[in-house]
Amino acid sequence: MQAKDYLDLANRAVSELVPYTPGKPVEELERELGISDSIKLASNENPLGASPKVTEALKQGLEGLHLYPDANGFYLKKALSEHHGLPPECITLGNGSNEVLVFLAQVFLNPSVAAVYSQYAFAVYPIVTQMMGAKHQQVPALPVGHPMALGHDLRAMYGAIDEHTRLVFVANPNNPTGTWLSQDRLRDFIGSLPPHVICVVDEAYTEYGQGDVLGDASTWLEMFPNLVVTRTFSKAYGLAALRVGYALANPGITDLLNRVRPPFNVSALGLEAARVALQDQAFIEQSCAMNEQGLVQLKHGLEALGVTVSPSAANFVLAHFDRPIQQINAELMKQGVIVRPVANYGLAQSLRITVGTALQNERLLQTLADVLEHIQSA
Ligand SMILES: Cc1ncc(COP(=O)(O)O)c(C=O)c1O
Repeated sequence: MQAKDYLDLANRAVSELVPYTPGKPVEELERELGISDSIKLASNENPLGASPKVTEALKQGLEGLHLYPDANGFYLKKALSEHHGLPPECITLGNGSNEVLVFLAQVFLNPSVAAVYSQYAFAVYPIVTQMMGAKHQQVPALPVGHPMALGHDLRAMYGAIDEHTRLVFVANPNNPTGTWLSQDRLRDFIGSLPPHVICVVDEAYTEYGQGDVLGDASTWLEMFPNLVVTRTFSKAYGLAALRVGYALANPGITDLLNRVRPPFNVSALGLEAARVALQDQAFIEQSCAMNEQGLVQLKHGLEALGVTVSPSAANFVLAHFDRPIQQINAELMKQGVIVRPVANYGLAQSLRITVGTALQNERLLQTLADVLEHIQSA
């Protein structure tokens, strides 16, 4: 049988699925180009790594590699329950928050219903919608000229909701744009939704919000039974390798999400690392302070090069160039600097750049200055 036949055999929704494009790993670039000393500012990882307390805890965890993890994640849920002031019955653990988004789609989407999400919203929303064969209700983003241009237009998203809508995905802040929503407007939006629509507020980057600009939508769970908040340990907590995320929702929704959760979906090391990481809030403060400085450094440095930058409440910036970015990106890679093209989002002239350490940011800015000069003089 030829490969083409398998495509014919696949679920129609899957055969039309375009998979997620991850950031290029450093090892891959170095292998391909025969270079070393590269930096990766492409996947919104924490340049400080993880809390040193986690590394210690993992050494002890290595002794239990032959044992299955606690399928219910009792101790991590207990720690999260204390952290959020919510009972464990409101928590669903995922292999990264990505998996929780998959659970939401599996539970609530099918070919006769729809999901609403914004243009330029995180790529996984259309993927999980497509995976279930559900209808896409993609809504145009806020226009150029708006202070949050490319961000979610909540009014338009509300306008798109109809009797078929089951899920509305809201990323606050959004990846890849970095844009965010005011707490008042977001609360009003959720409050205005009909009861058959579940609002998923994805707070993957929420720790990075300065002051109370991003708030904490989980404090509204009692008010809104149709709210689900997703969080991750991959970003500020620096545990992307271990794949731990979670959803906070009322017990009814949580019960449904846990019905589709595979057994042992979070590893024992992941459970323990996340539990310990949660206790080290000083590390989060340190990471956020460094990120705050890095955002300013990148914004000023990029603007000095004539590159505009979208406002960001996350650990990355979306940089806009006056030309398609293929050549710029290729030249940056040759110099060992990996950033993230976002043409898959329909943003062919933009690059998403993760905030690194001050030194990494400086290297990116210097390399980009050289690359732009070289291109302009060619
Ligand atoms: C907005 C948003 N949500 C969710 C995720 C998923 O992250 P993870 O599966 O590592 O928790 C990401 C990752 O980049 C993201 O940007």
